[in-house]
Amino acid sequence: MAHSEATKRAPVDVLITAPLPVVGAEATGNLIFHRLWEAPDASTFLDEVGPRIRGIAAGGRVQIDAEVLDRLPAVEIIASFGVGYDRVDVAAARDRGMIVTNTPDVLTEEVADLAFGLLIATLRQLPQADRFVREGHWLSRPFPLSASLRGRTVGILGLGRIGKAIARRLDASAVKVVYHGRTQQADVPYDYYASPLAMAHAVDTLVLVAPGTAETDGLINAEVLAALGPTGVLINVARGSVVDETALVKALQNRTILAAGLDVFQDEPKVPADLIALDNVVLLPHVGSGSTYTRDAMGQLVLDNLVAWFQGQPPLTPVPETPLEISKRA
Ligand code: NAP
Ligand code: 8YV
Repeated sequence: MAHSEATKRAPVDVLITAPLPVVGAEATGNLIFHRLWEAPDASTFLDEVGPRIRGIAAGGRVQIDAEVLDRLPAVEIIASFGVGYDRVDVAAARDRGMIVTNTPDVLTEEVADLAFGLLIATLRQLPQADRFVREGHWLSRPFPLSASLRGRTVGILGLGRIGKAIARRLDASAVKVVYHGRTQQADVPYDYYASPLAMAHAVDTLVLVAPGTAETDGLINAEVLAALGPTGVLINVARGSVVDETALVKALQNRTILAAGLDVFQDEPKVPADLIALDNVVLLPHVGSGSTYTRDAMGQLVLDNLVAWFQGQPPLTPVPETPLEISKRA
């Protein structure tokens, strides 16, 4: 992938799969954006522009899989919008010598704020209390007393960038934090559990913030929920795939656990009617990073990765699966 001054200045065709803040509103430098969502027929569009596309700005619900990549043989870099990149087949990209980048760090504090807020909203029943006032019930009776964060032990599944930012918020709230990940971390002050099940037995609150991978698929199942117990609260800001959603609905219906706060679902934007019918769950439309401030920063990082690469620099935030020899741009 050597480049020259001429390559730097030559127009570069980039496919953008969904409207993204900052990215692709118009040509940026020598990047020319081709907007997939505006095409009357996506397949015909890919036939037309596919062979000359050298970069992808990947967002929305479009899967970047082997079949799509086969139609885009000249792609060098896939810049994905989001820190989780489960919609990109990274193995297929690596096989084709393509770089994948994501948007870590710029959303960490925002998602941690949301996770902490969702935990409080779920425990203290804030949406239910709001509905109570609007529906006029306060005129006739007080709102029932709620569960509390006080005295809880919170188990974080995935003590990474966002997990640690959530833990800091819990530290400030004087709540005990423990964690599970594939590896025990030497430099954290929290107790480690070697499995989600062992951790669920030891805590009454689970916060999920691990990536959606084959390994994490269905990790939180009926057995783990039963171990969490009748005072148990589950918060999921990771991916819907990490939880067995059918088992969760049953656990909430049967009060095997107390409540759940969910920002993510198995088949977004479809939320099961059984979940919507429950009064012990708080449901959000995947808004962990969803402020203008943070989405703009994510879009800027997508753009910066593309610009860096096509100016002959290494990508700024390659995912760990991208081989070093490619991302270093030797
Ligand atoms: P990160 O820094 O890479 O942290 C991920 C953590 O998950 C690591 O501590 C890792 O620890 C753990 N992990 C990975 N695979 C695991 C497995 N199989 N079992 C148990 N733990 C595992 O990533 P991040 O920036 O914190 O983001 C985490 C995730 O949050 C993203 O991938 C995304 O799915 C989700 N997210 C959601 C939203 C939203 O809007 N709701 C926004 C941003 C991110 P080990 O390596 O030790 O296992
Ligand atoms: C984004 C996210 O909303 O970064 C992630 O992993 O889940 C969110 O920040 C999402 O990626 C955009 O579709």
